Amino acid sequence: MTLSNQQLTNIAQQFDTPVYVYHAEKMAQQYNNLTNAFAGQDVKVFYACKALTNINILKHFLQLGSNIDCSSINEVKLALHAGFPPERVLYTSNGIGFDEIEEAQSLGVHINIDSLSNLTKFGEKYGHTYPVGVRLRPNIMAGGNLKISTGHDKSKFGIPIDQIDDLLSIIKEKNLFIQGLHIHTGSEIKDVEIFIKGIEVLFDIIPLFNELEFIDLGGGFKVPYKKGDHETDITLLAQKVGKAFANHPNPNGKPLQVWFEPGKYLVSGAGYLITQVNVLKETKAIHFASVNSGFNHLIRPMFYDAHHNITNISNPNGEEKHYAIVGNICETDTFAWDRKLHEVREGDYLVFANAGAYGFEMSSNFNSRYKPAEVLVKDGAFHLIRRRDVFEDLLKNQVEVLF
Ligand code: LLP
Repeated sequence: MTLSNQQLTNIAQQFDTPVYVYHAEKMAQQYNNLTNAFAGQDVKVFYACKALTNINILKHFLQLGSNIDCSSINEVKLALHAGFPPERVLYTSNGIGFDEIEEAQSLGVHINIDSLSNLTKFGEKYGHTYPVGVRLRPNIMAGGNLKISTGHDKSKFGIPIDQIDDLLSIIKEKNLFIQGLHIHTGSEIKDVEIFIKGIEVLFDIIPLFNELEFIDLGGGFKVPYKKGDHETDITLLAQKVGKAFANHPNPNGKPLQVWFEPGKYLVSGAGYLITQVNVLKETKAIHFASVNSGFNHLIRPMFYDAHHNITNISNPNGEEKHYAIVGNICETDTFAWDRKLHEVREGDYLVFANAGAYGFEMSSNFNSRYKPAEVLVKDGAFHLIRRRDVFEDLLKNQVEVLF
């Protein structure tokens, strides 16, 4: 399910460029694929909203029936503002101050704590009165690249599984109510077996937690970014997870719910970044096409060497040539070094695919450029859901003290 070149062209003409475009029905399709695959199992999906937090996207997932996973107290507040009831909100924290945990507790949301230090403080303050999850580091290396691998034995995330004895003493001493165990091994995990490996690590320790109600396996499902890319086989994952839990009933007798926190899977393919070509520069070695965007708008290619498909929607029948697609930022912001595109002319619209997850969300005002507008396509209608920055936005938080 994709938006047509005509729709994208109309949006570019109506809202100008650069503009992020999100397709509501595609997000719904991804959400339904996931929940249908796990139908019949006690599974809850929490949209990892760090991927894209526009309030309309949060409301869309609320309406779809999703729960929501947050990675900061402000995301928690955005989720509540969008209308999620606290019991559908999860705050999976990492490295945060205890004040944020206190605030999350006062808001009544689920919390996964990722350090012995915060867990101790939590126990001292709330004892057994507030159920909590613990984020563990399973010491499994997984994920698309090192920067997005979070479960290995040198990762900052989670309480190392080898510190289980310390964890258990704190739980006992502070009389904590441990409701869930959480792991997230990384992003872009294609191989279903990695999830199963994670579950197996947990099965070894589940009997040590006698009040457990959920196992949270995090997010990280791989989506295809380029031709030939494989995505995580969700149907196979559902079969294997179902089987694994059927073979390991919870020793405390309570059925164990399984939670997932996908970000990319739900929104990556539903997003597009439309840019326009400012300048063509022909050199001996390379044909550069410089667009009116850069790593201030989409940093993934430069930060993770990520591949985003790029299409020239203005000249779909033009002769194919090789280009370096670059940005207009005063840095080497190359989106693609040697990419075959239909002939590119100045003024053409170039569209970046898979821009829904960690696209706008990681954008900045670097070089004092404006952040792009955001448009939601729902039931065929185009809705502006964030206006483009204007000059005043660059100054609005600055305090002018020199005159
Ligand atoms: N749960 C936790 C605890 C996480 O840390 C993350 C992602 C997710 C869920 C969602 O992962 P996903 O399903 O989106 O892969 N900015 C990077 C990805 C960083 C992901 C950080 N944590 C990128 O653009 O590739």
